[in-house]
Amino acid sequence: MTQTAIIGGTGLTRLPEFQILAREKVSTIWGEPSSDLIRGRLYGAEIVFLARHGENHSIPPHRINYRANIQALKDAGVSRIIAAAAVGGIRADMGPAKLAIPSQIIDYTHGRAGTFFEDGLDHVTHIDFTHPYTPSLREQLLDAGFRAGLRVIDGGVYGCTQGPRLETPAEITRLERDGCDLVGMTAMPEAALARELEIDYACCAVVANWAAGKSEREITMAEIEQNLAKGMADCAKLLQALLTQV
Ligand code: HPA
Repeated sequence: MTQTAIIGGTGLTRLPEFQILAREKVSTIWGEPSSDLIRGRLYGAEIVFLARHGENHSIPPHRINYRANIQALKDAGVSRIIAAAAVGGIRADMGPAKLAIPSQIIDYTHGRAGTFFEDGLDHVTHIDFTHPYTPSLREQLLDAGFRAGLRVIDGGVYGCTQGPRLETPAEITRLERDGCDLVGMTAMPEAALARELEIDYACCAVVANWAAGKSEREITMAEIEQNLAKGMADCAKLLQALLTQV
């Protein structure tokens, strides 16, 4: 049976209409995950919810224990992860409050514990990361978006920066030259760790703001919160269409 997990990011630390059945405080060989695992019923389906930045949104992207988060979900029997993530928009059609299902990643992070395959190995393991997001799960998200009547952008390159500060316009120009369409801070190592543990993984990216230098206006938290409120409401509609699929 498919056991679905939703990792909620900025703007989605709680799920509307989520009926909590059990709250599990878990620990893994990599330490503690960002929050309790919350088992519950969402739109009729049993899912596991994890708040990536903690339930009070107090863990910055570079301090998240990604290994503990992914291991905890694996231990809980999760076979597919839908990652909700707030991002900045780089490409012209990826403006505030838009939804995208990215297809590629470029990793600009440093110093994050990014693999389970480190010590005490029998042999060196290299995962195939040609498709960093599981293609079949991406298709399911796109199909759900379509059925929900949403305009969801199919594909895009997610540039993952270290944060927690936002980027300079020169950094965004460089990311754009590299081919990035979106910029966020949490796709890596989350996606790679899910692949290492053979969990399907795809991302519903919600554009919170134009990336630095892409608009005349200063990026404010107020603007980010307003765009996220709309985008995450659409993300919830997409999840509803996905989870109620017969
Ligand atoms: N840059 C990086 N991460 C982000 C941004 C951004 O502009 N907005 C939301 N997450």
